[in-house]
Amino acid sequence: MRIVMVGSGYVGLVSGACFADFGHTVVCVDKAAEKIEALNKGVIPIFEPGLDQLVESNVKANRLSFTTELAGPVADADVVFIAVGTPSRRGDGHADLGYVYAAAREIADAIKGFTVIVTKSTVPVGTGDEVERIIREANPDADFAVVSNPEFLREGAAIEDFKRPDRIVVGLVDDRARSVMTEVYRPLYLNQSPILFTGRRTSELIKYAANGFLAMKITFINEIADLCERVGADVQDVSRGIGLDGRIGSKFLHAGPGYGGSCFPKDTLALAKTAQDNESPMRLIETTIAVNDSRKRAMGRKVIAAVGGDVRGKKIAVFGLTFKPNTDDMRDSPAISVIQTLKDAGAIVAGYDPEGMENAKQLLDIEFTSGPYEAADGADAAVLVTEWNEFRALDLERLKSVMRTPILVDLRNVYRKSELEVHGFSYTSIGKSSDI
Ligand code: UDX
Repeated sequence: MRIVMVGSGYVGLVSGACFADFGHTVVCVDKAAEKIEALNKGVIPIFEPGLDQLVESNVKANRLSFTTELAGPVADADVVFIAVGTPSRRGDGHADLGYVYAAAREIADAIKGFTVIVTKSTVPVGTGDEVERIIREANPDADFAVVSNPEFLREGAAIEDFKRPDRIVVGLVDDRARSVMTEVYRPLYLNQSPILFTGRRTSELIKYAANGFLAMKITFINEIADLCERVGADVQDVSRGIGLDGRIGSKFLHAGPGYGGSCFPKDTLALAKTAQDNESPMRLIETTIAVNDSRKRAMGRKVIAAVGGDVRGKKIAVFGLTFKPNTDDMRDSPAISVIQTLKDAGAIVAGYDPEGMENAKQLLDIEFTSGPYEAADGADAAVLVTEWNEFRALDLERLKSVMRTPILVDLRNVYRKSELEVHGFSYTSIGKSSDI
């Protein structure tokens, strides 16, 4: 298959490289000339484990290329994926579809022969209909079908998720498009990944429903964690105890500082808006959003409480700035709210992250250090916000020796109280009463 990927951001780049690795010929298009120039030199603009090798080997095999020019590749393509950004629109929380529609208009003029246009970006219900209308209007003679094919990959595990998905969801009405999509995903099909063919609107909703449900699951366990702290229970055991029930499942039950990232915050907001607009409000999702927002700030207050209630002039070290490990993505990271709360209360903050420092520097006005011990140097407390492997095996003696007061607030439950206390730390975690 000849595939064009419009948009070479996270999803576009990972999907493009993986499709090329399946044996398809893939052209990734992006308007940002500097990004394309970098990609052509083998420089990957995002941090994602394994992506650089995957890109390199497929470029070498002539299956993957990058360009700013859309028309030529689209004219030759069997399938054109739209994988451009759908940020939250300022003000109302709706997904901003400007980039999607602009891509559709450009594609319309370039189509030659039967072409399947696939929205891979996360788009609200009905976007496929609008993409179809735009293309039809711009090019009434075009022979095309519009398909919805949401992407469920997680940052940090994107290639593995793409190549071994739990399922592939494809929303369409056209039989020719169905054969093309079956061909596109043949390697996964053979690998036993189930493909769910459904209607286009249903497919669009599945993506939001999945992300909304996962965000709700995390938020549920976070509230249970708060209750655990009050009643003398242990949230990690509660997670295990409920997760072993197959109806609940053990994944996405790790209590923490609240979810962040490029998807959950934006998609829950868009789902709530769609539901409101259709006079079918989703109170569970609205509450999830509100609970998660206030949780991020509450985590800053948790640190302040651990230090004794007053952080004015005190130095706090922050370990991990990205919204989760194995990414350099800072979008909606809980670290941002935690740090803001600490700074508002008068603390001096020093932070370190293994991959996110460049992005963090655009957003945060704190001292950036070259490692966790440097951040903790002279600190009155350290707070572990993101569970990078590097922070799972800290040299606790060394950490204690550089800190002014050995206080560790572990917002990811990486450590156990007993082991920290052996090293003389005062230790606070999530969802455990003070004696656990
Ligand atoms: C998510 C979805 O998992 C993915 O299917 C979708 O395509 C995009 O959005 P991603 O944002 O990359 O992926 O990260 P994910 O691993 O899902 O984590 C999201 C946030 O939830 C992170 O801030 C993470 O720390 C938090 N989280 C996740 C928890 O706090 N507890 C958990 O148990 C799981």
